[in-house]
Amino acid sequence: MTLFSARGLTAGYGPLKVLEGIDLEVNEGEIVVMLGANGAGKTTTMRAISGVIARHGEITFDGHNIQKVGPDAIVRAGIAQVPQGRGTFPELSVEDNLRAGAYVRRDGSGAVQADIDKWFELFPRLAERRSQRAGSLSGGEQQMLAIARALMSRPRLLLCDEPSMGLAPMITQELFQMIERLNRDEGLSVLLVEQNANLAMHMASRVYLLETGRIVASGTAAEIGADDTIRKAYLGF
Ligand SMILES: Nc1ncnc2c1ncn2[C@@H]1O[C@H](COP(=O)(O)OP(=O)(O)OP(=O)(O)O)[C@@H](O)[C@H]1O
Ligand SMILES: [Mg+2]
Repeated sequence: MTLFSARGLTAGYGPLKVLEGIDLEVNEGEIVVMLGANGAGKTTTMRAISGVIARHGEITFDGHNIQKVGPDAIVRAGIAQVPQGRGTFPELSVEDNLRAGAYVRRDGSGAVQADIDKWFELFPRLAERRSQRAGSLSGGEQQMLAIARALMSRPRLLLCDEPSMGLAPMITQELFQMIERLNRDEGLSVLLVEQNANLAMHMASRVYLLETGRIVASGTAAEIGADDTIRKAYLGF
């Protein structure tokens, strides 16, 4: 079943048009990977979906038109974004970052605390540092916190923009395993932007290839990986 769909999505910055009208879908339970060179418009796509920049086109989530819906209401509807780079409040403690991630929830502090405890169980590194300022965590720890913080809103769709940026290969692997586990065990749907095509395609249900604001190829990871021209031109392996 289609969870998220965009048709003719355009967005940009002031006079600069970045997305030239892209069609994109995430079905329930999928991990969809978006690949593309620097400046292709991947982050812009994520921002357009989460509503932090103006966008046009037909955008639906869970059967509802969300084109005119603002960023807070989009989080409430069930879409959470882990932005590229820092997705945390550096001055707040680890635990307060998680609490802040739950700001749209209406199910009370008990339920929120139960979720915080769940994340601490899943990420013992964060539990050990619960009172530490987020800004003083290592890059990998901050990335884990950024993901856990986004998940505190209990989204059905997680937008994850280059979570592996600046991380050691081992930590990246841990992070991706965690995303796969959430997908498998909790049915979380994921739209993932990733530079490391080889790694990302292993976990992808489907792949979109973005080039200067246009989708130039899409298909299952097997289809995309089997196309020599695409592989050589865009994926570098
Ligand atoms: N805030 C902004 N104001 C003006 N132009 C911007 C802004 N953010 C991005 N751009 C421009 O929009 C284009 C697409 O940028 P975007 O960040 O979406 O690329 P990307 O595919 O995420 O690249 P990367 O892989 O480097 O993260 C680029 O040409 C960039 O310079
Ligand atoms: Mg980007």
